[in-house]
Amino acid sequence: MPYLLGLDISTTGAKALLIDEQGAIVASHTTPQPISAPKPLWSEQNPADWWEGIAASIRAVLEKTGAAKEVAAIGLTGQMHGLVCLDAQGNVLRPAILWNDQRTQAECDQITETLGFSRLIQLTGNRALTGFTAPKVLWVRNHEPEVYSKIAHILLPKDYIRYCLTGDYAADLSDASGMLLLDVARRNWSEDVLKALNIPAAWMPQVYEGTGITGRVHETAAKATGLLAGTPVVAGGGDQAAQAVGVGAVKPGITALTVGTSGVVFAPLSSYAYEEEGRLHAFCHALPGQWHFMCVMLSAAGSLQWYRDTLAPDVEFGALVAEAAKVPPGSEGLQFMPYLTGERTPHPDPLARGAFIGLSVRHTRAHMTRAVLEGVAFGLRDSFELIKAKQAVEQVRVSGGGARSLLWRQIMANVLGSALTTVEETEGAAYGAALLAGIGAGVWTDVGAATAAIRLGETVTPDAPGSYEAAYQVYRSLYPTLKDTFGRLATLS
Ligand code: XUL
Repeated sequence: MPYLLGLDISTTGAKALLIDEQGAIVASHTTPQPISAPKPLWSEQNPADWWEGIAASIRAVLEKTGAAKEVAAIGLTGQMHGLVCLDAQGNVLRPAILWNDQRTQAECDQITETLGFSRLIQLTGNRALTGFTAPKVLWVRNHEPEVYSKIAHILLPKDYIRYCLTGDYAADLSDASGMLLLDVARRNWSEDVLKALNIPAAWMPQVYEGTGITGRVHETAAKATGLLAGTPVVAGGGDQAAQAVGVGAVKPGITALTVGTSGVVFAPLSSYAYEEEGRLHAFCHALPGQWHFMCVMLSAAGSLQWYRDTLAPDVEFGALVAEAAKVPPGSEGLQFMPYLTGERTPHPDPLARGAFIGLSVRHTRAHMTRAVLEGVAFGLRDSFELIKAKQAVEQVRVSGGGARSLLWRQIMANVLGSALTTVEETEGAAYGAALLAGIGAGVWTDVGAATAAIRLGETVTPDAPGSYEAAYQVYRSLYPTLKDTFGRLATLS
């Protein structure tokens, strides 16, 4: 029986997931990962912790199942955009700078100035955002010249694990898209951008389609993990592309909505397209011949988590949300802005902040809870509006912790004006990475066969269409009104 192993280096844990050729989950193990914020706006992890963590997780699933000999292939996924700097011997030069690190606004401005706003978007499909990789490379050059002078290779987080497993410097195209150094249309590194930013092309890993085999597990890695030397490793995908594969968002029209800490809308495309103002990310999908648009809201279920932990720490989520069900749609004039950690889509602004607007003495905790649920739904509607202007949305497949609440799904269906169908999956991006491994190893002939095992759950349809229209229009006006205020507040904190 061939098994497939999906490995996910997320910000919080290093997960190994074993599935069988029916797509059924056989075993899963996650090793928690430490994260550090040594200065304001910084967010870092040590690549050595990822390797130690993933090796422990792999050993755990193999010990549980005794399946090492049957692993037909390994697929990699993980947090996107992070920068790992290596010297010529493959030694890590400094802690990895992560996707949620916000230190690089000056370097984003430098990139935009060097290439020009429109040209940058034409060349890479994207605008310069603080989370992306290229500004991090420039930050190291500007602030740590002694580190910069030793760099011989740069890698994304999951690709450092590939290096540890096989010794290869390689990346997949979906993850590479988030570096701001890829010619996304042509699916290769952009010579123009590398030259303009003075980043040596020799530093870049070789790029592969997500299902391509990039190398094989070597002896040292085999000893550390319990895998057999020679097991093939496929390119895999960034966490969002792998998540999309795992829920079957593998053709245009099937749109994935993930309501986790962040809120992501992922729309596959059969040909390259980009949004002129760069408000949508335009990336390669993890599947050959496919691209995708993506919107990322930074605090979706993260907003509810913060709200509950801060204001109602002793109340279960279910009980808190049940109170909100008794409040009418629109929360009687109360609104919540979900920009607790800044925002990406549609307002690329690290200084944007959260707010309750319209509070009165009549409002209760139940109103505030409902306003949080509605505010996140309004923010997601902003993203859907941008996607729908470019690409038809035929079915929305919703997953992530926030999608477990029926009330929240109903609110989102009404705000988005769209039916939402749940997906019976609990293993996220690691599952998609395992499917990509199976296609690469020939266990499945194509992505259709690989995703056949995905089971859809309940569909919630809008039951009060239009009921949120007036409130949404108010919500849309809030960020433009408060943008300057957020900038001024940032100087005080
Ligand atoms: C995607 C993104 C996040 C990170 C961490 O653009 O920034 O999904 O990959 O999960």
